[in-house]
Amino acid sequence: MKNIAVFASGNGSNFQAIIDVVQTGELHANIALLVCDKPGAYAIERANRARISSFVFNPKDYQQKEEFEAEILLRLKQAEVDLIVLAGYMRLIGPTLLREFKGRIINIHPSLLPAFPGKDAIGQALEAKAKWTGVTIHYVDEGMDTGPIIVQERIRISEKETRESLQRKIQQIEHKLYPSILEMLLTRGEVTSDKATRTY
Ligand code: GRF
Repeated sequence: MKNIAVFASGNGSNFQAIIDVVQTGELHANIALLVCDKPGAYAIERANRARISSFVFNPKDYQQKEEFEAEILLRLKQAEVDLIVLAGYMRLIGPTLLREFKGRIINIHPSLLPAFPGKDAIGQALEAKAKWTGVTIHYVDEGMDTGPIIVQERIRISEKETRESLQRKIQQIEHKLYPSILEMLLTRGEVTSDKATRTY
């Protein structure tokens, strides 16, 4: 069974969706570690409840990214982590982690990349009056939401769409899509090589 580490900064509803499918046996993985850069984030509570170890840190306690990433790297190695799963982790991954894990870090983003990268992708799509948006799962590289795309799922934005209704639709998709893609990557052993794109 492969070991995964989930990185989250906030609520952690995607983290919870992953915990749930591990517990039902639908996802054949061991969640070895939660990495969280926001002391007090609700994701930490979810880890505690599921008895998952967490490494929580405050970036302000470090001079630079390199230092906290070195500490994260140590924990990842101790836990023998195979794959890093970003789930609402609000920071760019730096060279320290990329050097060791490139091709083994994935992220979920609430838009059809390359459209609307970065913060508040849902707000950006509404602001732009886009007719479609969606969810992208992709490998992580040095850039902001720029790595090779693994899968995308589209959602039509209706005329009456509100931020709340769109967010609800996006999260519904995310909570199904992320676990199913993880299962595919982990059980087929194609974590480092699968670059397939599937668009609905
Ligand atoms: C998700 O919408 C994800 O796409 C984005 O951040 C959000 C995290 O939500 N990267 P949650 O913390 O999993 O509820």
